[in-house]
Amino acid sequence: MRKDKQTRLPGNNQEKVVICANGRKVKRKLKDYEIDMGERGIYNTKNKLNDLTGKEWTFFINSVQVTDFAKNEEEFRLWKYLQESIIETKYPTDGKDSIGHNLRKLHPSPKPPQLMRDIIAFFTKSGGWILDPFMGVGGTLLGASLLENRNAVGIDLEKKYIEIYNKVCEQEHLKKQLAICEDSRNILKIEQIKNQKFDLILTDPPYANMLSRKRTGGDRKDKGSFTKDERDLGNLSYEQFLPEFREIIEKAVSLLKNKGYLVIFCKDIQPTNKYHNLLHADIVNEIRKIPNIYFKGYKIWYDKTINLYPYGYPFSYVSNQLHQFILIFRKEI
Ligand SMILES: C[S@@+](CC[C@H](N)C(=O)[O-])C[C@H]1O[C@@H](n2cnc3c(N)ncnc32)[C@H](O)[C@@H]1O
Repeated sequence: MRKDKQTRLPGNNQEKVVICANGRKVKRKLKDYEIDMGERGIYNTKNKLNDLTGKEWTFFINSVQVTDFAKNEEEFRLWKYLQESIIETKYPTDGKDSIGHNLRKLHPSPKPPQLMRDIIAFFTKSGGWILDPFMGVGGTLLGASLLENRNAVGIDLEKKYIEIYNKVCEQEHLKKQLAICEDSRNILKIEQIKNQKFDLILTDPPYANMLSRKRTGGDRKDKGSFTKDERDLGNLSYEQFLPEFREIIEKAVSLLKNKGYLVIFCKDIQPTNKYHNLLHADIVNEIRKIPNIYFKGYKIWYDKTINLYPYGYPFSYVSNQLHQFILIFRKEI
């Protein structure tokens, strides 16, 4: 069957060299709904999710987050080699690009704001709303402020983390997002947000008593816990943690728009003979119990700032787990 001719926007009629989603340059006419963004690639105006071009979109959906590129030929060859087995990212922990790491490091596990920024840029459009029910010193909120026109709300039990976040915003001259000191179990009772609808929930919760567990090998220092508060999910046993975490996420998800995304960071811990400790798989199973929330896949983030230790040497294999999972779910009603 012959398709009706589409009306074209002026200027889209001529063939030109454009950058396609796979990064290749091709000569073709633009469709009515396409805008040529030059080196950024082609933007499809039907894009309801974000403001990215096809090329930028393709880069993001790679399951491994790559941000560190080779600076010279030698590094390129090494990087190419590494790419076959491991892909790395290394966000600065000092200087201007560290975005207040001097203050944020007072928290046991701050997330790099640039990493959160890139996730927010994929899952929201300009004007979008982002929620983090376990904000810590505000990796998510800072990530939102690194983009134009995003609104974020964060919750944390610990007042001192919120104070640090506010100081970072002042030091870095970044927009202060709404940071609330509260137990996120009470999320639906918080006046400022109970009527807000969010485009994205992006969070990095504590995983039961993982921080204070006994460590092996070279990394013996006890990182303690996030807080001494018994309401802190980081002070629960793993068995208590899973359903309590799900209940909080279920409440948060009721504030998520239909087709909005839920993105959760998670790191596995060393397996024992009793249990595999694949936390990411347990979290997916637990979150799938929430009605209308569907698991869509994950990305892996390899944080190259973490030290390697010769765990197990010279007796047995003990894995160095330097990567974290970025679990991606969508609300579909
Ligand atoms: C892994 S940290 C988040 C770090 C954060 N992504 C950042 O960039 O700083 C988890 C946070 O959850 C907070 N938390 C634990 N239980 C909570 C609860 N019931 N309600 C609100 N916050 C809680 C802890 O105080 C801790 O700061």
